[in-house]
Amino acid sequence: MDAKPCKLSRCVKANVVLPPDTQHHHTLFGGRLMQLIDEVAVLSATRHARKPCVTASTDSVDFLSPVRVGDSICLVAYVTWTSRTSMEVFIRSTAEDLMTGERRIAAVSFQTLVAIDDNGTPVPVPEVIPETEEEEYLFRTAPMRAISRKKHREETKELIETLTYINTNHLDVNEQLYGVVTG
Ligand SMILES: CC(C)(COP(=O)(O)OP(=O)(O)OC[C@H]1O[C@@H](n2cnc3c(N)ncnc32)[C@H](O)[C@@H]1OP(=O)(O)O)[C@@H](O)C(=O)NCCC(=O)NCCS
Repeated sequence: MDAKPCKLSRCVKANVVLPPDTQHHHTLFGGRLMQLIDEVAVLSATRHARKPCVTASTDSVDFLSPVRVGDSICLVAYVTWTSRTSMEVFIRSTAEDLMTGERRIAAVSFQTLVAIDDNGTPVPVPEVIPETEEEEYLFRTAPMRAISRKKHREETKELIETLTYINTNHLDVNEQLYGVVTG
């Protein structure tokens, strides 16, 4: 499978922030931005893999500045690094005051996407070739982030096992099903 330059998975998505996307401070809901981030990340990974892709994890989302009603929000995503079947996608979200042209980074995010076949089984993906200084920086630092993800995944597995054990052995049926503590 031939490696592909990061630029082939680059996706750009721009939206104007409208009132339904905002909370009572008239700034963009974090959840709405996360939805846009996920959409563009899936698109980018699919462009790279040319296979259906699913989000395995939202590794980080850092909200750096609020985005106001009437601003535009522009997301740029590309695959920065791959393992066997998974891809790390970097997403930069830039807000722009459309009246003044002032731009600021609203959020930076990393997601892990996995390519799957028709049965939902993970399938191999091509490697990436970083070309720009930014791509090379993100490619070089990716293995460290992959180690953090692996550790987090192990912790999550332990959490699920513990919760399953507690819910199976120590809670009565009402609490297991409805979260209701009976007394
Ligand atoms: C993601 C998914 C396909 C992985 O399947 P799996 O049976 O766990 O497969 P594996 O254990 O072989 O993992 C496959 C790859 O995914 C990676 N992966 C799996 N879970 C992960 C997680 N939580 N975080 C980061 N990477 C993960 C593995 O490291 C592996 O990567 P590699 O092949 O590049 O080394 C499966 O968990 C799934 O379908 N999850 C739901 C996805 C979804 O619906 N997303 C939308 C959310 S609403």
